[in-house]
Amino acid sequence: MNNSRSHDSIRAVLWRGDRLRLLDQRKLPFVEDYIDCQSADEVAQAIRDLVVRGAPAIGIAAAWGVVLAAQRGRFALDTALPILRAARPTAVNLMWALDRMQARVAEGADAIALEHEAQAIQDEDLAANRRMGALGASLIEPGSDVLTHCNTGSLATAGYGTALGVIRAGFSEGRIQHVYAGETRPWLQGARLTMWELVRDQIPATLIADSAASHLMKCGQVKWVIVGADRIAANGDVANKIGTCQLAIAARHHGVRFMVVAPSSTVDLTTAHGDDIEIELRDPTELLSHAGSRTVVEGAQAWNPVFDVTPANLIDAIVSERGIIERPDTGKLRTLFG
Ligand code: MRU
Repeated sequence: MNNSRSHDSIRAVLWRGDRLRLLDQRKLPFVEDYIDCQSADEVAQAIRDLVVRGAPAIGIAAAWGVVLAAQRGRFALDTALPILRAARPTAVNLMWALDRMQARVAEGADAIALEHEAQAIQDEDLAANRRMGALGASLIEPGSDVLTHCNTGSLATAGYGTALGVIRAGFSEGRIQHVYAGETRPWLQGARLTMWELVRDQIPATLIADSAASHLMKCGQVKWVIVGADRIAANGDVANKIGTCQLAIAARHHGVRFMVVAPSSTVDLTTAHGDDIEIELRDPTELLSHAGSRTVVEGAQAWNPVFDVTPANLIDAIVSERGIIERPDTGKLRTLFG
């Protein structure tokens, strides 16, 4: 067992005063390379290209993008905001962070004040993750195995992680003994990123093909599926990485509990229902090739939605830094987040 601080060494988003340094997540796990963004345009491009990804990390990076624009003056700021906002559509943390920065701009904040605001967004995210880690872990019986999906760790946040933060806390408390991670086709966030974080932290972990999840649950291995979120609608429906909904369906079928871990910046009370959440469609070539080599016959078509919506009635608990909602519904979300 390790303590939770030793499980927190990775930082993917680093402010350097006049540039934003991003750990290039396209190259992990074998190459640890950083790119420096010197303009909001470059930050938006990095978000689109998945150099930086994960809902909270996208919001944090965009906030720093606003600071870079403010350092260049008012005109740069006005053009930067819509470009950053359009970088990716599903994770509401992006819009949340930009709304927060824009409100400070409207108050007349200068570049230094905006730098403080971006730093606050980043610091608050880390604090929220530590809190959610403790809350979520408290739901898990000692000695449990769990399954997670995508990457929700330090790489996807200011640090520590959301679902992976619960896993870090749960492991250090002896509640979690083993973690299964789904590959997360097609971009392999689970295989490339989550396994990298877990192995670095010496948390016992086993990779499975996404298609092995229901069989794993049937074999009685896992007590909880623990995932993050990109947007939580007012009724508790959750948009998250493609494949999440089928995990929730399988979990209910096999009597495995299903936990969503996300900070309040992921909750969007202006979206009534999960069906109203825009699902990002990415380039089909992400499916038609692997590691740069074509794997599918020329002429084949592919459909590549990268998020799906899990209905609230398949979720046992939503864990946020404000508290835990069991069996989420509109009333409970309004009480905690309204
Ligand atoms: O396409 P990605 O890698 O940005 O998708 C990430 C996810 O779906 C995560 O589960 C979600 O953002 C939560 S990260 C704390």
